[in-house]
Amino acid sequence: MSLMNLDGRSVLILGGTSGMGLATAVAAQRAGADVAIVGRDPAKAARAIETVGDGTVSGVLDARDTGALAAFVNELEAVDHVVSFTGDQPAAPIAEADRDMFASAFEARVWAARNACAIAAPRMPPDGSFVFCSGLSALRPRPGRSAGAVATAALESFCRAMAVELAPLRVNAICPGAFGTGVLRRALGSDAALERLASTIPLGRIGDPAEIAHAVMFLLTNTYTTGTTLRVDGGIALA
Ligand SMILES: NC(=O)c1ccc[n+]([C@@H]2O[C@H](COP(=O)([O-])OP(=O)(O)OC[C@H]3O[C@@H](n4cnc5c(N)ncnc54)[C@H](OP(=O)(O)O)[C@@H]3O)[C@@H](O)[C@H]2O)c1
Repeated sequence: MSLMNLDGRSVLILGGTSGMGLATAVAAQRAGADVAIVGRDPAKAARAIETVGDGTVSGVLDARDTGALAAFVNELEAVDHVVSFTGDQPAAPIAEADRDMFASAFEARVWAARNACAIAAPRMPPDGSFVFCSGLSALRPRPGRSAGAVATAALESFCRAMAVELAPLRVNAICPGAFGTGVLRRALGSDAALERLASTIPLGRIGDPAEIAHAVMFLLTNTYTTGTTLRVDGGIALA
């Protein structure tokens, strides 16, 4: 087994057009993989292709849309590994967190993951794998974030269910702490809030998306890890 080597493998990254997904696309490409990325915004997808490099394929679609994802995946020459970073973090106190908010949080993370498994698994070789991104809210929810918290927890449970149903394909979750991407900046609203958060983290800083990419590479290439959630959080879950 060659550590962190994806030579000649095909890696599909849902939510690969910015943030941690884009960092993962870059890492996979550097490890020798043929990379395909998916996002909803065409301008972001075009910029991401420039970042990842020649030969990268992109699909502009919503991973919640089963038909659109199937059409894209079925056009790919091969799929060995699938990584998904789709998901949102809706905020509202419980009395205002309505059915639509819960459904939307669930669809963005769990239904998109269901689509990825249902569509890609039949095309994948026995040593293929999935990695799905959850979030620390599964473990340490914040007030006003219940819809996102149950969606991340459900996603981790879904990964364990798929690890037994789809074996020998491996299925794992990655659980990021606080990473300096658009999602976190939008959620916190200011650099001062980011700095305050960093000061509460045992490692004393916000994570770099490349550090998530490194952990995803481990999950894609370690052939005996399945059904696990790998937390990469600078120790924030302990704080
Ligand atoms: N940053 C953090 O501190 C943190 C912590 C814990 C968990 N997370 C989770 O990590 C994941 C990645 O977030 P990020 O921080 O890297 O932010 P990001 O830069 O906003 O990345 C999200 C990516 O997913 C795509 N995407 C979202 N929903 C999609 C959908 N339905 N279909 C297709 N593509 C979709 C986005 O592109 P389009 O918008 O163009 O579709 C983008 O490429 C998210 O699920 C987030 O909730 C983040």
